[in-house]
Amino acid sequence: MKRLGVNIDHVATLRNARGESHPDPVDAAKFIKKLGAHSITIHLREDRRHINDDDAKKICSIKGLLVNLEISTNKDIVNKAIKIKPNFVCIVPENRKEITTEGGLNLKKNKNNLKKIISKFKKKKIRTSLFINPLLSDIKISKELKTDCIEIHTGKLANLIKSDLNYLSELKKIKKCSILADRLGIEVHAGHGLDYKTTKILSKIKEIHEFNIGHFIIGESIFFGLKTVISNFKKILK
Ligand code: PXP
Repeated sequence: MKRLGVNIDHVATLRNARGESHPDPVDAAKFIKKLGAHSITIHLREDRRHINDDDAKKICSIKGLLVNLEISTNKDIVNKAIKIKPNFVCIVPENRKEITTEGGLNLKKNKNNLKKIISKFKKKKIRTSLFINPLLSDIKISKELKTDCIEIHTGKLANLIKSDLNYLSELKKIKKCSILADRLGIEVHAGHGLDYKTTKILSKIKEIHEFNIGHFIIGESIFFGLKTVISNFKKILK
């Protein structure tokens, strides 16, 4: 079975809209664990627009919960992540004005810094992942950087599918990258913009082992509840 990671950033977005404490992302993390998700993803952004330091600390200390912490390469955030001790980190690009993570990392430009950051986390036995675009050249650089995993940005594919446009060449790119990464011993994950249909299509790529999904799960749960939505995704990923 492929693994499902649930991104709960938007539980914090909803909580922050009122500036009060409900809905609490810590309770959401515990509840989603009970529903059988493999892991919880949270993004501690530099601007703290959703998850904050206290949320991250509390969520990372929930016993038996696997937490994937998304972080930028910002020094303070990296040091904070090392202190908070998540099980996994996923390094993502961050741009202050973006609504959400718009693309993968620029590996060529940030090679030396990424190598140092990955080695810091590896020393602490924290699994590392790089959020990248589906480019064969980036898979080769990922190997050089000695990351444990890569997460392929599926936003472009998801947009094409949702707009009823031809998505086959983008899907082929993702498949080729997944095969190469797998051959090089890098574990492959996928994430961004995924819903039932896009996840079903990508789940046919056997080299993808983990899906990290946020916005659709939280949004769809308004109508059907987390229990039903997570159960539907688990059926797709079986
Ligand atoms: N994976 C990564 C690395 C992300 O940055 C995000 C968005 O925060 C997601 C997955 C989840 O994307 P979405 O909310 O569109 O499902």
